Amino acid sequence: MSQPEWHDLGPVSSFTAPLTPVLVGRTKLAVTRVDGRFGVISGVCNHVGGPLAEGRVDGEYVVCPWHNWRYHARTGSGEPGFEDDRVPAYDVKVEGDRLLVDLASATKRHKAKHAKHPLDRDPVREPGPVRVLGISTTAMDPQNPRYSTSDALLEAAVDHASARGLEGRMIRLGDLRFRPCEGYYSKSARACTWPCSITQMDPSDQLDRVYEAMIFWADVVVVSTPIRWGNASALYYKMVERMNCVQNQMTLRQRALIRKKAAAFIITGGQDNIQAVAGQMLGFFAEIGFVFPPFPYVAHSRGWSAEDMENNVRYVKNSGELRDGARALVDRAVAMAETLLRDPSEAAPMPRAGRKADGLEHHGPVDE
Ligand code: FES
Repeated sequence: MSQPEWHDLGPVSSFTAPLTPVLVGRTKLAVTRVDGRFGVISGVCNHVGGPLAEGRVDGEYVVCPWHNWRYHARTGSGEPGFEDDRVPAYDVKVEGDRLLVDLASATKRHKAKHAKHPLDRDPVREPGPVRVLGISTTAMDPQNPRYSTSDALLEAAVDHASARGLEGRMIRLGDLRFRPCEGYYSKSARACTWPCSITQMDPSDQLDRVYEAMIFWADVVVVSTPIRWGNASALYYKMVERMNCVQNQMTLRQRALIRKKAAAFIITGGQDNIQAVAGQMLGFFAEIGFVFPPFPYVAHSRGWSAEDMENNVRYVKNSGELRDGARALVDRAVAMAETLLRDPSEAAPMPRAGRKADGLEHHGPVDE
């Protein structure tokens, strides 16, 4: 056994809160005071290094502020069922009015093995014809469906891909149950994980289907949206916010999950603002690594003064030109994807390709 190394943390009176973060040299500590009893454990979470000492105390456990992993406030062991996930715990004592911690008493950190999430793998393109994924972002009552102009044109586009002998697949966001982004990135860039933190924590969340298809399967992604109050649909933004984890891999690790993929868009609305909607979509998809064919979107709107939506639906239903336009859009996107797939620079890294052109230095736990 090593000699004790008692370190004075300060007057007891300065530890009135249930949880206090303390830094001793480079060692981060979480000091707890629960029912008058002191405890000291590491301030660094086992999961992805979250700041445990900045979390909260729940009963006898310290809860990590990033993804809610729990460790016993005095023993450092994980919550019941996860005891094997342990952070270092330290001996602590009160002498006079001072709180002391024995730095030499740290127990060993132990990270239990957790099964990898199925999305936690490198994207590898399987051989086969070009794959076209349509993502429809319109919302409707599934029990009483209505005619959607954006959805109908997207269907024509994906059907065209299948008719060409390519692989075509549609995902309608309205059919999926998925949570909105809950702001893990707002806590810390490192709290926004790949796979998405929500996807890893909530098996009932169905956005994994979009991640799987977009990142691992598709060569071409065609997204359709109606115009709602001058913007893309709410479901579009709900999906896009959950894509932060894809872009964040560039910021954190210069890891491009999207490579050699083309994106294109179908935008329809009774009223206008097509170019602003297209601008947002182009900007976002460029930022996560997609490239675009020439003329990367087709759109339709009857203009600001048109309130006759019945006529708008009738117009789109009967318009062969719009369908031809959607098919031609797919052809351009497929041609772009084929060009990209022929490019031999497969494994070339993309340094500083993140939108800020600078990385975020990754610091692991400091107390090991
Ligand atoms: S729960 Fe602590 S970093 Fe994820």
